[in-house]
Amino acid sequence: MRILFTSVALPGHFFPLVPLAWTCRTLGHEVLIAVPDHFAATAVRTGLPVASSGAVPDFVDLQAGKAPPRSFEDGLVEHGEVFGRMAAGQLAGVRTLVASWRPDVVVSERAEFAGPLAAAERGVARAEFQWGIPSLDEYRTGAARVLAAEPGGLGAAGLPQPHLVFNAWPPSLRLAHAAGHRGVRHVAYNGDARVPGWAVAPRRRPRVCVTLGTLLPRLGDAARPGALDRVLSDLRRLDVEVVVAVADDVAARWQPLPEQVAHAGMLPLAQVLPACDVLIGHGGHGTTLTALAAGRPQLLLPRFDDQVDNAGAVAKSGAGIRLYPEETGPGVIAEAVGALLDDPRFGGAAESVAAEIAAQPPLADAAQDILAL
Ligand code: TYD
Repeated sequence: MRILFTSVALPGHFFPLVPLAWTCRTLGHEVLIAVPDHFAATAVRTGLPVASSGAVPDFVDLQAGKAPPRSFEDGLVEHGEVFGRMAAGQLAGVRTLVASWRPDVVVSERAEFAGPLAAAERGVARAEFQWGIPSLDEYRTGAARVLAAEPGGLGAAGLPQPHLVFNAWPPSLRLAHAAGHRGVRHVAYNGDARVPGWAVAPRRRPRVCVTLGTLLPRLGDAARPGALDRVLSDLRRLDVEVVVAVADDVAARWQPLPEQVAHAGMLPLAQVLPACDVLIGHGGHGTTLTALAAGRPQLLLPRFDDQVDNAGAVAKSGAGIRLYPEETGPGVIAEAVGALLDDPRFGGAAESVAAEIAAQPPLADAAQDILAL
C-alpha cells in the first residue's frame, strides 16, 4: 500500500509521525512524507522519503508582530487560523501529490489540514495522529474560517473528519473526547542529536534536565538570552547537576550559563531522560510523554495550547507538578524540584504511568489499522 504522511513545519508536530511511518515502511509498504520546503531538510534526516508540499511561511513568521491573545481560547483559535493559512499554502502541493502518487491512505498530524482535505476530495481514507491531551476543537474552528475564505479551499462540507485517530497518551490520562481513539504505544523520535557519553555512564549526583522544547525558544520572551534565568538561579539552591536540552544555536545565544549546567544543546530526550532524575519541561507532547515513558517525574511550566492540559494531566496522575509563570516566585521552582527528587510518590506515579504506556498496542498494530482502512 501507499501511505502519505502530512505535517506542518514544526518538529513537535512532525516527530510523533516518524516512528509510525518507519513501522509502515518496514512492514513493506510505500511511505511518502509531505512537508513544506523549508522543513524538508529536517524531514530528510529521518531517512524517510520526503516530497515538498509547497513554499509555506514558517509558524514563527506568521506569529510575528501579533498582539498577545485576549484569552487562552482566543489563542487557540488564532493558532488554528495560522494552521489554516499553512494548509492553504500547501493545499495545491498536497492535491497534486494525492492525484499523482495515489496514496491509499493519508495520515496527518492533527494541525495539518491540507492532507485531509485533498484525501477527502478523492475519497482516500484518512487517519489523524492526535498529539496532546485536549480536543483543540478551536484549531478546527480557526482553520476552517481561513480555508473557507480561500478560493477552492473549503467546500460546504467543511473540514473532513478522520476515519481513525491515534492517541499515544495512556488511557488513564486521556479526556472524554478521546473515547473512540485508537491507543498506540509512545515511541520517541527526538531528531538527530547524538547520545552524550554521560547519558550512558553512572551519575554521581542527582541530574535535572531542563527544556523548553523546539518552538518556545524561537518565540517571544523565551527566545531571549536569560530565558532560563529564573529556573537556573533557583536550581542553584539544590545540589544537582543541570543539563539543558535546546537547539544548539539557541544554547549558543543563551551563553554564558551557570557552572552548574553540565551540558546545553540538542539532546535526544529518550536516551537522556533515563539518565536524569527530574525533567523541568514546558508540557509539549513529545517531551512530556518521553519523560512519562522513562518513568521520570516532571515539573511542568506550560505556556499555551495543549501544554496546559498535558501538564494538568501529568499533575493529576501524581507524576509531576504544574506551575504557571505567575506562580514561579523565587524559591518555588527549587522547592518543587526538591519535592520531585525527595518524595517517592512522584517517582512511583511516574513509574506506573510508564507501565501503562508500555502496555499500549505497539506501532505495528497501528500500521495494521492504517492498512485496514
Ligand atoms: P514537543 O515536546 O511536542 O514540544 P514543542 O512542539 O514545543 O517543541 O516536541 C519537542 C520534541 O523535540 C520532543 O520529541 C523532544 C525533542 N527534543 C529533544 O529530544 N531534545 C532537545 O534538545 C529538544 C530541544 C527537543
